[in-house]
Amino acid sequence: MLLNQPIGVFDSGYGGLTVFKSISKLLPQYDYVYLGDNSRAPYGNRSFKTIHEYTWECVQQMFGLGCPLVILACNTASAKALRTIQQKDLKTADPTKRVLGVIRPTAEVIGNYSQTKQIGVLGTKGTIQSGSYLLEIGKFFPDVKVYQQACPLWVPLIENGEYDKPGADYFVKQYLDQILAQSPDIDTLLLACTHYPVLQQKIKAYLPQNIQVVSQGDIVAQSLVNYLQRHPEMEQRLTKNGNQQFFTTTDDTADFDHHASIFYSEPVKSTYVQMK
Ligand code: DGL
Repeated sequence: MLLNQPIGVFDSGYGGLTVFKSISKLLPQYDYVYLGDNSRAPYGNRSFKTIHEYTWECVQQMFGLGCPLVILACNTASAKALRTIQQKDLKTADPTKRVLGVIRPTAEVIGNYSQTKQIGVLGTKGTIQSGSYLLEIGKFFPDVKVYQQACPLWVPLIENGEYDKPGADYFVKQYLDQILAQSPDIDTLLLACTHYPVLQQKIKAYLPQNIQVVSQGDIVAQSLVNYLQRHPEMEQRLTKNGNQQFFTTTDDTADFDHHASIFYSEPVKSTYVQMK
């Protein structure tokens, strides 16, 4: 009997669904498991140690569900936990499994979006303080100047279902004003948090028309296509029945399903998984 070997997509909460939507659209044939650690979200203001501990725990949970490959569809986890998982944890736990992040694939292409070669990066406190985007974009586009702004209140607004309410406007405008004040020549704003596309309409409403907003879903999905082409040994392990399963660490699965369906643009029915 062929065991289910899905691709795992992980996020601290709902945000990864914006990436999962692009991935499953481009690669509908694979089986997928989505896990949102909603009971412990947001991760953005947490310590390096805690983000690593939570992320690794969730990744192991997804390995237990049969995933040979897990995408951390979360910039905060990619910035703070990915390296330790790749270089240390996987070696002892199971060297045949793979865990990929979202920062490198984004950094590889983001410089191509800007005419002025000035890019603003919006992310959680954890992502911005890690300096990962400065480092990674610098490797691929040394001529691009990167400005950064942490937006610590955006994920809590989104996780609490306030993203389309008038109260969100104040905080959307506040962080946009702060990044635009750093340079008048920024022409590209990267939403370097997978939650933020949910605020895209409000973000666009407060930006001058010459500034484009880039979200990561399609970039990460295309990068996964390329990865699977380069790694046939992994591609062949993955089962292809088009099944999608959703898991959340909150016991209020009805609430998760309601919000997740909006983010994913399709009905979602989740199963609760208990964490520590
Ligand atoms: N969606 C996550 C990211 O891309 C983050 C959020 C959080 O839990 O703070 O950074």
